[in-house]
Amino acid sequence: MTRENITNIPGSRILIVDYGGQYTHLIARRIRELEVYSEIVFYRDLNRVNIEDYDAVILSGSHLSVKSLDEDAVETARKILMDGDKPLLGICFGHQLIGYLLGAKLSTGCSEYGRTTVEILNSDALFNGWSNSEVVWMSHGECIEDLPDSITLLAESENKVVAAIKAVVNNRVVYGVQFHPEVHHTVKGRRLLDNFLGIINAKRAWRTENYYRCIIDELSREVTKNGVAVVGVSGGIDSTVTALIGKKLFGDKLIPVFVDHGLLREGERELVVSSLEKLGLNPLVIDVGERFISKLEDSTDCEERRRVIGEEFARIFSEIIEKEGAEYFLQGTTYPDVIESGGTHKAASVIKSHHNVGGLPEWFRGRVKILEPLRLLYKDEVREIARLLGVPREIIERHPFPGPGLAVRVTGVFTRGKLDVCRRASKIVEDVLREYGLYSRVWQAFAVVGDDKWVGVKGDARSHGYIVTVRIVESVDGMTADYSKIPYDVLDEISRRITNSIQEVTMVTYAITSKPPSTIEPC
Ligand code: XMP
Repeated sequence: MTRENITNIPGSRILIVDYGGQYTHLIARRIRELEVYSEIVFYRDLNRVNIEDYDAVILSGSHLSVKSLDEDAVETARKILMDGDKPLLGICFGHQLIGYLLGAKLSTGCSEYGRTTVEILNSDALFNGWSNSEVVWMSHGECIEDLPDSITLLAESENKVVAAIKAVVNNRVVYGVQFHPEVHHTVKGRRLLDNFLGIINAKRAWRTENYYRCIIDELSREVTKNGVAVVGVSGGIDSTVTALIGKKLFGDKLIPVFVDHGLLREGERELVVSSLEKLGLNPLVIDVGERFISKLEDSTDCEERRRVIGEEFARIFSEIIEKEGAEYFLQGTTYPDVIESGGTHKAASVIKSHHNVGGLPEWFRGRVKILEPLRLLYKDEVREIARLLGVPREIIERHPFPGPGLAVRVTGVFTRGKLDVCRRASKIVEDVLREYGLYSRVWQAFAVVGDDKWVGVKGDARSHGYIVTVRIVESVDGMTADYSKIPYDVLDEISRRITNSIQEVTMVTYAITSKPPSTIEPC
């Protein structure tokens, strides 16, 4: 599904303008949970979308001050507010921006952070189901005051800060809330977003089932009948679902390709090939471990390893595309990749280059048409489609695994020895979690090996071994994550098994930093 034909998406569509706020993607998720499609666009990219294709617009939070927003952006927001006719909801910064554009005064020195109580002063459908006083989550340094007559004050905080406003501009409603309805700490936040959708008469039809049909219909119209397509499969959920979509579109003309780059988890190749075969996706297996590892050996920079691996992947796929005369290449890109990449967020720094959706080299992109049927879906939505398509549990519940594999779990110098330790230790982490029934309750669980050493005593001898860091995280979509509060006896079992069975390891540590500020993978 491309943005050009977004109008095929069933039901209403909400556009979320991202001003750089840390919770923007949560707004998108909450709206989708309420069965309405939502899409994020970075404010500087507003010219790339057609607001007419959407039923309402949400202006998100920001680390910026309204006063520091550039003139062009203020002008664009003014046009949306003053000339447009789509219902608007401003959240935090978006609320201040609306207030400011309607003539309220911006003030500093009114910051509120965290848990705050607000009082509803004028009842409104936006607050259906709310009591007069409710707990919300605030995170702002500035606020609006001196509201003009055109703005109705709906709620204020315990600190007498304007907490919610309403106005009618061009015969449509415009709301602003200073707090964050999208975070769980705002107790009735979900209800507020639900109310907003009710007020604008949103048609709730965003169900992955409908969306799946929509993808198939649209792509069936787009692709050449009898065209040949190549899809890279890893056994992960995204590529498996992408391949099944490809199978439906291209039938026997789909060539699933599994590249064994030598950086896989233990037993992975056998497991993946047999699971894919059960789904009728008989992959062509390309055995190129030595080719990859010899190129990576002794490299010290993870990003460089990603680049080398990306380049090799592209070369291999390009050879197959050429040999088979393929017209299409299918990729399992999902929405978080698009968001974190610059797909919606041009000013965002590229956190890790995999997030760059354009990760495929330019020369590759020019050779083949690239189809990304999942690019508007979150991972849990992909999982739902997978269930619909009868993908077995072992694939649905498998933890995400990065394309460059264990190359991003060996930090510092990349050596065959460290790769082997990483692979064996990771297997132990997964095995123990399975034995304790915890594997499918966590998002990812693995081991990391760096260059640091720790003196140990094994038997009677002093040894100088690797430190293995165990990372086990919980997450909904990989965008944020927290370390899992694994019981001590499970950690203990992991640690003992690793040090007992891997001679080269003398210390096991547990990584307890959330994302942000950390990331899930170590590099
Ligand atoms: P980070 O480490 O950025 O990871 O918090 C978020 C999610 O992305 C996966 N990841 C990758 N996936 N190629 C991929 O295909 C990569 O280079 C890569 N790096 C991280 C990671 O496993 C997690 O699920």
